[in-house]
Amino acid sequence: MNQVLIKGARLYGEGDPVDVLVTGGTISEIGCVSAPEDAEVIEAGGQVLLPGFVDLHTHLREPGREDTETIETGSAAAALGGYTAVFAMANTDPVADNSVIVEHVWRRGREVGLVDVHPVGAVTVGLKGERLAELGTMAKSAAGVRVFSDDGHCVHDPLIMRRALEYSTALDVVIAQHAEEPRLTVGAQAHEGEQASRLGYAGWPASAEESIVARDCLLAEHAGARLHVCHVSTSGTADVLRWAKDRGTRVSAEVTPHHLLLTDERLATYDPVNKVNPPLRAGADVEKLRAALAEGVIDCVATDHAPHAPQDKDCEWSAARPGMLGLQTALSVVAATMVETGLLDWRGVAKVMSERPAEIAGLPDQGRPLAVGEPANLALVDPGAQWTVRGAELASLAANTPYEGMRLPAVVTATLLRGRVTAREGKIC
Ligand code: DOR
Ligand code: ZN
Repeated sequence: MNQVLIKGARLYGEGDPVDVLVTGGTISEIGCVSAPEDAEVIEAGGQVLLPGFVDLHTHLREPGREDTETIETGSAAAALGGYTAVFAMANTDPVADNSVIVEHVWRRGREVGLVDVHPVGAVTVGLKGERLAELGTMAKSAAGVRVFSDDGHCVHDPLIMRRALEYSTALDVVIAQHAEEPRLTVGAQAHEGEQASRLGYAGWPASAEESIVARDCLLAEHAGARLHVCHVSTSGTADVLRWAKDRGTRVSAEVTPHHLLLTDERLATYDPVNKVNPPLRAGADVEKLRAALAEGVIDCVATDHAPHAPQDKDCEWSAARPGMLGLQTALSVVAATMVETGLLDWRGVAKVMSERPAEIAGLPDQGRPLAVGEPANLALVDPGAQWTVRGAELASLAANTPYEGMRLPAVVTATLLRGRVTAREGKIC
């Protein structure tokens, strides 16, 4: 059986280094282990061992925009970023609103085999917000869809959202909302604030997000359903989430790495690489989002990895598509914003990047403790190393990273999926 010995790793960055033996797909021994014959040995040298990361929000663009990303290239980016499971958003072409498409995405993910690819099913047919898609058929398909979202679009009709939430309880699935009241963001190009006014961009007000989150929390509470809020971007949304959680609403939420690091000051560059939906917000929002994540008011980090073709980004701001790459830089941005600031330790990182997202999506074999008998889905991180981001060198087909040329802390040095090394020292295995 395939064996891997990780020598001298600090579990969750705590305590003395130990050896971790992986046999088949399982952690078989932890302690002082001498290398069995034929075992692949990874010298960890005191690096941090974490459970493999789980991304609830990835755009893999297949089917339809294979010029910008495929399930294969996106899976490679994920593995290099320390991920062992990703949720592929439904806004593909055709839309993943039926069992044929979700099963295709799921099968292709398995063929590639670098990361578990879980398709997200659309909530409404064609993401049009008019009629519910066949949630039950997708949930019962081979893909076993657990998360439904119209991401890219908001399910803005309260009656449709109510029905989706009610229906979701029977299937025990979660509805993930892209919270954006469309009537408040007509023509919006950037965060409604000083920067946007100065540059003459139509504003995307915080209330467009907050009003939908508040509404949906109440709808979820009345339906007894589970709501997940995608890419929280404003301080007010954190307040609404705290209020809802205090009431006992079954709501979870994610924040993206870019909303933890970047602000609308970036607008001054006029570079559409900084255009994203929801938009980069003010410094006070960023501060509040970090605190909310540290406290658990926001449950987890999700990338919203959104690859785009050069012609859709190297153009004027208003014509550019929103979105930025995230899979390969997520851990480093979380290290810079949450670990180096003292807001989270590595155990906290394991929680927000692996354990909570796995729980939210109901994945039984991801986000598990680092213990004997547990599945060997692992990420090894060198916390002291730094690297310089170069979009052209990332595994994605697209190169629209907002971190171009930035030096970031923490490097993922190895990823294991069920005991198989999928990435090592920046290369796919
Ligand atoms: O910036 C974004 N890009 N936000 C979304 O909601 C959709 C995504 C995309 O698909 O490009
Ligand atoms: Zn979205």
